[in-house]
Amino acid sequence: MLNWDDTPQAPAAPTARPATATPQPSRVFDDTAMPAPAAPQAAGAAQAGGATGQRVRAADKRIINGETDVNQLVPFKYKWAWEKYLATCANHWMPQEINMSRDIALWKNPTGLTEDERRIVKRNLGFFVTADSLAANNIVLGTYRHITAPECRQFLLRQAFEEAIHTHAYQYIVESLDLDESEIFNAYNEVPSIRAKDEFLIPFINAIADPNFKTGTPEADQTLLKSLIVFACLMEGLFFYVGFTQILALGRQNKMTGAAEQYMYILRDESMHCNFGIDLINTVKLENPHLWTPAFREEIQELFKKAVDLEYAYAEDTMPRGVLGLNASMFKSYLRFIANRRCQQIGLEPLFAQEENPFPWMAEMIDLKKERNFFETRVIEYQTGGALSWE
Ligand SMILES: [Fe+2]
Ligand SMILES: [Fe+2]
Repeated sequence: MLNWDDTPQAPAAPTARPATATPQPSRVFDDTAMPAPAAPQAAGAAQAGGATGQRVRAADKRIINGETDVNQLVPFKYKWAWEKYLATCANHWMPQEINMSRDIALWKNPTGLTEDERRIVKRNLGFFVTADSLAANNIVLGTYRHITAPECRQFLLRQAFEEAIHTHAYQYIVESLDLDESEIFNAYNEVPSIRAKDEFLIPFINAIADPNFKTGTPEADQTLLKSLIVFACLMEGLFFYVGFTQILALGRQNKMTGAAEQYMYILRDESMHCNFGIDLINTVKLENPHLWTPAFREEIQELFKKAVDLEYAYAEDTMPRGVLGLNASMFKSYLRFIANRRCQQIGLEPLFAQEENPFPWMAEMIDLKKERNFFETRVIEYQTGGALSWE
């Protein structure tokens, strides 16, 4: 059992959203606010149905604008997607399995952490408590319906659940530490360095979540491809990394080890999401080479530069002074290093001169084998799923 203060709280208000709540016009994630879709789409076997009466041939499958039946997982064409789906299932974990009692004791101890360390934890959670909801909404309300390969949809379904687990994990940390929920959950409205990152992302969600958006023209397909790149390479592949590094640096100093362990599992999941996204992007490029125009590549590189600036501003805001052996300028190198790597992974020239990785230990964390129980917060070896063995 967890050793945390379980003070009963006032019952939550009914969960139904008040109809009078003022929606923010720039956010259309709430699908209840969207007009009901028209009759089932005739074009795009992709959307939901798609039975054509003909048997599916793997060779006919396409990642976007495919016309094969999306309800038939096999025959496989995109084996990499299926294999990544199996790998993510084998990494299954749940937040409440991790003991937070040491974190709670440290947080409650007035001299347990410095003010700078507390700021890092709160800013971190301020970004992440809503970031993974953005990621989940992007998949469920946007990406999923435009992807016509059922192997890839299978991964996206798993990914969406993992985003729910991540939001659960951040909420669990907030609750364990008894932080001010409204301060943390509103940080994305109230803290400019967090708000700026989300404002960068939201138009890319809205573009593909728009019920009137359909792929099938070069412009629309580029819009989708751009959104895939922004989410895999810049959201999951860049915007998460200052925060992950900071909390894992705390963990390496034996502080907030329960939170650090949760972040390690999340980092491993995100790294898989990012790799899947990169495979998806590269396959869309391969199947649709006409989308990869010089103007489009230039636009993507500008987005990369903007994202590096935003993440660096976030690093400075979270660490106004050096802390934990880290300082903001180390993150400048790190972000450039990561951005170069993401460019290379999708076939773009590196954006920055050769940058060293100032945090080589982060790579170890990504390759974590769960049973290592890195911060010794758990007593059990843990991995579920995995390959079947009948020996
Ligand atoms: Fe996530
Ligand atoms: Fe993710």
